[in-house]
Amino acid sequence: MDDKIVVITGANSGIGKETAKVLAQMGATVVMMCRSRERGEEALQEIKEKSHSEKVDLIIADLEDPESIKQAVDRFKVKYDKLHVLINNAGLMLNKKKLTTLGYEKTFAINHLGHFLLTKLLLDLLLKSAPARIINVSSEAHRYGNLKFEDINMKKYKGFRAYSNSKLANILYTYEIARRLEDSGITVNALHPGFVRTNFGNQGVRKYLKPFFKFITLFAINVKKGAKTSIYLASSPEIENITGEYFVKSKSVKSSKISYDIESQKKLWELSESLFEEAEIEIIKYTT
Ligand SMILES: NC(=O)c1ccc[n+]([C@@H]2O[C@H](COP(=O)([O-])OP(=O)(O)OC[C@H]3O[C@@H](n4cnc5c(N)ncnc54)[C@H](OP(=O)(O)O)[C@@H]3O)[C@@H](O)[C@H]2O)c1
Repeated sequence: MDDKIVVITGANSGIGKETAKVLAQMGATVVMMCRSRERGEEALQEIKEKSHSEKVDLIIADLEDPESIKQAVDRFKVKYDKLHVLINNAGLMLNKKKLTTLGYEKTFAINHLGHFLLTKLLLDLLLKSAPARIINVSSEAHRYGNLKFEDINMKKYKGFRAYSNSKLANILYTYEIARRLEDSGITVNALHPGFVRTNFGNQGVRKYLKPFFKFITLFAINVKKGAKTSIYLASSPEIENITGEYFVKSKSVKSSKISYDIESQKKLWELSESLFEEAEIEIIKYTT
């Protein structure tokens, strides 16, 4: 990975941090995109020490805020003129419904919309750097997803349902953008990392369920194992030309039936673009 430049969102914690560390150990230049400067700096030092690499950088990006995403991309483009791997890893589940400043439900906004915008803004660099890879960290929870495009803010909110919907969106989006980028030299794949012991779920679990959640995390795998599929998709020559697939344990598997629905894939793409248009956020159109 010596001459590769990699961006990872949510790289200050859990699966993202481990992926950043291992890719840095493999020689890649790793740019961590994190929402908190404090948590980002702390993880940056740890990753540098553990990977024995100085080629690790931090750029602040809050995925719920399009302005923050745009600034992060501007900063990235001032420093780097190539991007070979984009890992859309950040994600969360929220127990209580919250809205972003633009008025969108936060789980959908962070897990899907933020990455949609980030990817679009970085697409020119990815195209220029091809062969390049986009990796979307989804979840087996997508199988419980049932996105209602006319009710994206979820009138009847349930944390796990919102999370499952956002993870289904990750896969619908992967298949749509993979098709749009066919023959461009950019591959796009999604993955489930496994049930991994991380900070995940800290904000998404109701108080009375916390002891149960703590108990079941005893059966979760550690981050070393949890980062394996992300690292595989980012670095393995085996999958250089594989695109539009969903991976579990570094193997391509079938995602849910609904995720293959081309109408839904297109609808999600159009809805995502229109939500940014409504908010008068300018994004690069990429329609081929
Ligand atoms: N752990 C599992 O069992 C599991 C299973 C399936 C899928 N996944 C997926 O794996 C990915 C990584 O999760 P994890 O388990 O490593 O959890 P984690 O330890 O909680 O890490 C999540 C990362 O996302 C970041 N993030 C949250 N909101 C953000 C925002 N608005 N802007 C930018 N970054 C934001 C967090 O930043 P802060 O530290 O600042 O909050 C953190 O760095 C997620 O997409 C999750 O859905 C996890």
